[in-house]
Amino acid sequence: MADRHEAALAAAHLRARAWLDGLEDRPIAPRADAETVKDALGRTLPDEGEDADAVVLRLADAAEPGVMAMGSPRFYGWVIGGAQPAALGADWLVSTWDQNTAIRAVTPGVVAAEELAGEWILDLLGLPPTSDVGFVTGATMANFTCLVTARDAVLRQAGWDAAHDGLAGAPRVRLVVGAERHDTVDHAARMAGLGAPRVVEADDQGRIVPAALAGALADGMGPAIVVLQAGNLHSGAIDPLAEAIAIAHREGAWVHIDGAFGLWAAASPRTRHLTEGLADADSWTTDAHKTLSVPYDCGIAIVADARALRASMGMTAAYLQTAASVDHADPHDRVPELSRRARGVPTWAALRSMGRSGTIALVDRLAGSASRLAIGLAQLPGVEVLNDVVFTQVCAALDTDERTDAWAEALRTAGDAYASSSRWRGRSVLRFSVSNWATDDHEVARTLAAASRALATVR
Ligand SMILES: Cc1ncc(COP(=O)(O)O)c(C=O)c1O
Repeated sequence: MADRHEAALAAAHLRARAWLDGLEDRPIAPRADAETVKDALGRTLPDEGEDADAVVLRLADAAEPGVMAMGSPRFYGWVIGGAQPAALGADWLVSTWDQNTAIRAVTPGVVAAEELAGEWILDLLGLPPTSDVGFVTGATMANFTCLVTARDAVLRQAGWDAAHDGLAGAPRVRLVVGAERHDTVDHAARMAGLGAPRVVEADDQGRIVPAALAGALADGMGPAIVVLQAGNLHSGAIDPLAEAIAIAHREGAWVHIDGAFGLWAAASPRTRHLTEGLADADSWTTDAHKTLSVPYDCGIAIVADARALRASMGMTAAYLQTAASVDHADPHDRVPELSRRARGVPTWAALRSMGRSGTIALVDRLAGSASRLAIGLAQLPGVEVLNDVVFTQVCAALDTDERTDAWAEALRTAGDAYASSSRWRGRSVLRFSVSNWATDDHEVARTLAAASRALATVR
């Protein structure tokens, strides 16, 4: 059996090593588009098969020109973490073991690592230790998981059993969000049958305005969910959690916090003050594939009331041989999926490899690099940093949208550093999201040099 895998795994190892070795210096953006890669892969399904190692080598040869070097320490696009070594190694084992991680008694080896990872995350973030933790594909699905749980819970409180009676005829659940929530909150809400949210004002950094939240909640009756944000993807700002949670709870609302990357501010004594009040919410979203630099895909849904999560996500079937009890749910009782890979295991490996001090150092390094990047960018001629850099995001712009876009394009084309473009507060911006475990002072200096060279090409 092992012999049958040997050549394919050796080929994969060889090409993975070459990819990782080249990551620091290769141009970051892909050089081939998807159609070119299809040509290189071969478009027609051949009649005859091919040896496994040849398939792996064919894939590496054909696809690599189209692979973005997202693991580069100078990659700042969207909000994308790298893959730190222990997590990557563990991820290989997860694929090799190929455990269908649905049932505790069936795959105890990987469930143990996932459950420990969940406990450690609660500890690092200062969240209630009795919360339950589900490993999903990303923050979008974590938001979905938590919003479905919230919906069912507030309806239950209003005397409506959504699990039995569905949503038709149910009291309307009011969903209240800040003007700069992430778009996936609306997407998750739509999938959860909550419809469009009531949007309340945000301040100049994108933080929800507590008085506006209070007004919106007072302006209606019935079950309510409030979604707050820890980490605005343009500014990195975190909503005034303590005040907003108190307002929402006074009105009987469930409070969910989308902290896809910003929840990790709570792990470090240097940034923890930004998240004051965090633990008083009812549910939280975060990602391991962002700040923690765990390979895709791993999102984390956390719910303070474990019974509520299991009431919404749990299921039974005679053939599954589940052993779920109130004390120990099965993994599938915490997430929408039944079958899934053991995606929490690389998170365990990342945390075990860094330890508490290393995790704090990671958060500090990302925030510190963002702050140094902002200082350096602001010293470049004509560059303005638009946000207060409190965590890991930096938005920079030139005097006109055209010049900003040209600067961004020149930077990406040169290939030494990659930041993505966006629009924020009515302007084109070049966004630097510092989310890779390997970004440090040296890489920040290289990034600033690349940004300066790109700027020189803009008329
Ligand atoms: C605040 C916030 N929420 C949700 C998401 C969506 O995350 P994912 O792509 O992991 O689903 C992001 C992505 O950047 C984000 O920044």
